[in-house]
Order: sequence, then C-alpha cells, then structure tokens
Amino acid sequence: MDKNRVASITSDLIDAVRDVCIKHAVTHTEYRAAIDFVSRAIDAGERSLLFDAFLEANVVASDPTKITGTTSQVLGPFYLPDMPFLKDGVMARENELGERLRVSGKVLNCRSEPVGGVELDFWQADASGRYSHFDGGATPDKNLRGRIASDETGDFFLETVKPAQYTIPDQGPTGLLLREMGRHSWRPAHLHVIARHSDYSTLTTQIYFEGDEYLESDAVRAASTDLAFPLIYDGDQTILSFNLVLQDIDSTN
Ligand SMILES: [Fe+2]
Repeated sequence: MDKNRVASITSDLIDAVRDVCIKHAVTHTEYRAAIDFVSRAIDAGERSLLFDAFLEANVVASDPTKITGTTSQVLGPFYLPDMPFLKDGVMARENELGERLRVSGKVLNCRSEPVGGVELDFWQADASGRYSHFDGGATPDKNLRGRIASDETGDFFLETVKPAQYTIPDQGPTGLLLREMGRHSWRPAHLHVIARHSDYSTLTTQIYFEGDEYLESDAVRAASTDLAFPLIYDGDQTILSFNLVLQDIDSTN
C-alpha cells in the first residue's frame, strides 16, 4: 500500500475516532475497556469475524473501482478455491436434504450483451445452515460447492437445494457486542458466487431470496434488496432466476 495513502487514511481515521470521543465524552476507562475487548476477541480467534462482521461490508460498498453491474457483496469466511467443475450444473447430491432448487439466469455485460464462457464459482450453506469444511466434518468434503460456466448465449444452470438462514458465530466476544448493540446474529439465506472472465472485472456477490425476514437486518449488514429474487413454483419444481451483469475491466479509466 502506498505510503502516502497509509499516512492520510490513518490520520483521517484518528480524527474520526477523536470526533467520536468528543461526541460521546468517552472516558479513559472506556477506552481501556475497548482495547481489552478487541484483544479478547483476537485471543478467542475472532479477529476476522470481528472486523468482517462490522467493517467488511462498508469497504465493499465504497469500492471506488466498482461503478456498474451487479452489486458486489462480501466474500465472507467460508470460500474455498479450486472446487470441481459440476457435471450438468448439479451441485447438490441426490440425497441432499432440503428443498430442491433449479437456479438459472444469464450473464450479461453492461451493454446487455450475453457473455459466454464466464466461470461461476458457487458455494452455499446447506438446509441446516452449515458450510462444508467449516462444520467439523458434519457434511462431506466440498459439499454444495462447485463451478459452472455460462454457455455461448450467456445462460447458466445450477441444480442445488435452498440454503438455510444461519447465525454467524455468536457465543464469543463478537456475539456479545452484537447483543449489546441490540443486533441479532442472523444472516438471510443466500448463495455465494464469484463470476470470472478475462475481459471483465471479477464479480463477488451473494444472491438472496425475496421476502427473507433478515434482508433488512443482516448481521454483517451486507444484504442488498436488489440482490433478492423470488422463488417461482412450477409444478413440482422450485426455480430461482436472476441475471449477473459484469463490469468492463476498463470502466475506471
Ligand atoms: Fe454465507
């Protein structure tokens, strides 16, 4: 990171903290308590959780390189790279519990032209709100993770199950702070996806479900209602349909 930016950003951050101290007449005892709290959270292994829960969404939302296209979302802590390419877009095992979901849509550029050959890297919680690899082995390796590609007309298809809402880890210092702030630890149900293509900026986002009770009060303040789509019921099929719009690489020039 450029030295001048370190200096100017840090100076502004210190000024912002000073303003908060003045506004709330923060005492020295409270200052020490705050430092102790952050130390306790780090000692409890919650360094990423604490900062990602309260700050990451702000950084993503204010990204100056993101000008157009589908809204970006936080990567979150549960991504794993190099997941397999899915045969026929089938990500859920035959015996995976939960409501079967057919996910389809189109990848477009900002001129509404279809974009083929886009790698779509999906991951999600299962119907009990668990992410494989982060659930102590409760679900199989690489479960509900995988990559597909849009075809030459930009279309994509994924067969999965509807993910459940889940709580971020809330039994440690981060959860305590959320409760003291009067906030809950629930995230709305969502699919994570990263869209990659060499001609476009990589898009990291999350897709939500219209009507989810936690859309407006996401524990990590990430959820965006423009990324919430309705479930469509067609016979015995449940369908989720949405488009992804990619930003040209040179949009910021
Ligand atoms: Fe998630």
